[in-house]
Amino acid sequence: MKSRVLIVDDDPFTRKLFQGLLRGNAFALQTAINVADARKALRATDFNLVILDQRLPDGNGLDLFSEVRSERPRQLAILITGHAEVRDAVRAVREGLFDYLTKPFENLEELEAVIGKALEMDRAYREIDILRETLEARPGAPLIISCSSAMEKVMLEVRQAAPLDTTVLIDGESGTGKEIIAKQIHALSKRAKQPLLEINCGALPESLLEATLFGYEKGAFTSAAKMTSGYFEEADGGTLFLDEIADMSPKLQASLLRVLQERSFARLGSTVQRPSDFRLICATNKSLELEMQAGNFRADLYYRINVVVVRLPPLRQRREDVVPMALFFLDYFNRKFGKQAGPFTPEAIAALECAPWPGNVRELKHAVERAVVINADGPIAPSSFGILGKGLPSITESASLLPYREAQEDFQRAYFKNLLESTDGNISEAARLSGIARQNVYGHIERLGLVMKS
Ligand SMILES: Nc1ncnc2c1ncn2[C@@H]1O[C@H](COP(=O)(O)OP(=O)(O)OP(=O)(O)O)[C@@H](O)[C@H]1O
Ligand SMILES: [Mg+2]
Repeated sequence: MKSRVLIVDDDPFTRKLFQGLLRGNAFALQTAINVADARKALRATDFNLVILDQRLPDGNGLDLFSEVRSERPRQLAILITGHAEVRDAVRAVREGLFDYLTKPFENLEELEAVIGKALEMDRAYREIDILRETLEARPGAPLIISCSSAMEKVMLEVRQAAPLDTTVLIDGESGTGKEIIAKQIHALSKRAKQPLLEINCGALPESLLEATLFGYEKGAFTSAAKMTSGYFEEADGGTLFLDEIADMSPKLQASLLRVLQERSFARLGSTVQRPSDFRLICATNKSLELEMQAGNFRADLYYRINVVVVRLPPLRQRREDVVPMALFFLDYFNRKFGKQAGPFTPEAIAALECAPWPGNVRELKHAVERAVVINADGPIAPSSFGILGKGLPSITESASLLPYREAQEDFQRAYFKNLLESTDGNISEAARLSGIARQNVYGHIERLGLVMKS
């Protein structure tokens, strides 16, 4: 599929430049020389990206952009400005433009990189829409982002195992998506219309977990005021999801094994065996092999639940998922809170891609939620991600090859840009955060040619 790009500029040289930059089979280019022309093109075609000049013969590129965005809130656009207009452009980026480029262009690689990032983001948005559409047709199934090859492999295993009645063990670090995968397996199984019962074996004391799983007769223990059915009974015909199975006590491991062998159970306080046909899914963030070797987990139970194993890789080992997930969560929280935060600035995207994510998807989800909550509507800078954005700009490979003075300048520019973005241009706040005197903050901004918010 070609990327459809619209270039709006009255200057033939600039149009040529972009045509040269974006030539080849991957692109379908259109050009417009004024606002009227651009409107016509935008009405006819759904563009992946619009590159537009700020000053057009019959109007202003920014106004045109606002117009487009009111109809297509996710339209990605890059604004071209002259140096004098940068102040407006910065404001525009705050209003939802993807990025801006200043004329004359000095660095074509930067142009290409910005365009590439914008198109990547557009692709991710569209993938999420397609996912949502397919899933709306299948209520109950969770939306799972799987753009990396590692996750594609996992999803293939899930699709293969789901319709069979086999026991599935889901193994993965905390926050990698074990629960969402368990829900998906249930949703894609023949039992989808029957109940899915989930319980975290690590969260309850042994006796409570036992009562919850087995149910009890009236008077089985002091507080058993009336007969209560347990999960083994309730999950009959459906699925039982035992989360953090490694935390189950030895006694309960033995009882569970018996239930799995006999395919029946007895409520506490009763000897009547009742059959139950449930499909078992277990999850663990500890290695069951190690727990078994350490004598904490029964080998016979291990072999019974270790039939089909789905291993969820940590997020740091599937970085291609990070940006699509971040966009997906952005969309999710915008809907949830009735906001229009976003898009992420290119710097924010870079920060997301590089972060180590020890808390995996859950951490990423919280980081985006926080960014949506603390941001006004409009672009999200790296500083919105909490600790992640507070880190210093990383040294790029090329920077380490620059003369020290230039590398230092690059660093300073990135630092102050980040600082100003995170304080929304407020110099006093920037001075406070950086520990640099107000006067000196001004000095740096001027020397580095950075723009201040008016
Ligand atoms: N591939 C994914 N696509 C979309 N959302 C995801 C994905 N993976 C995880 N999530 C979301 O991230 C959060 C954490 O996932 P989940 O609770 O399934 O992880 P977990 O492995 O069970 O974590 P824990 O071990 O801490 O219980 C959930 O809100 C879940 O919906
Ligand atoms: Mg979980």
